[in-house]
Amino acid sequence: MKRIAAFVVALVFILGFAAAGFSADKCGACHKGDKALDKIVAKKNIKSVADFVKAVKEGPTAKMHAKFSDDDLKAAAGELKLAQ
Ligand code: HEC
Repeated sequence: MKRIAAFVVALVFILGFAAAGFSADKCGACHKGDKALDKIVAKKNIKSVADFVKAVKEGPTAKMHAKFSDDDLKAAAGELKLAQ
């Protein structure tokens, strides 16, 4: 019984962390599921941070992303492990 309780507590903890990490992510609110950034990057064949920033700033959705700074975009690109 104790083991089960410990397991449940651990699980809640892990899920809580995952959820917190997700909501802290500036892009994740819109970019999830089919529109997750890793999927977009693969589909558009984006290979580097520069390509990524360019795709956001000069792409069809540039206006939607206008509130994000270069640093936001570079941070997101870094998380996707794109080449510098
Ligand atoms: C308000 C919702 C929203 C937020 C927040 C958002 N995006 Fe987007 N983004 C979109 C939508 C909608 C598209 C178009 C998706 C499609 O074409 O399927 C898009 C497209 C993109 C694309 C592809 C651009 C192209 O060439 O069409 C990139 C790259 C991207 N977003 C990066 C980001 C990054 C990085 C962040 C966080 C800093 C971010 N987005 C935050 C809604 C959002």
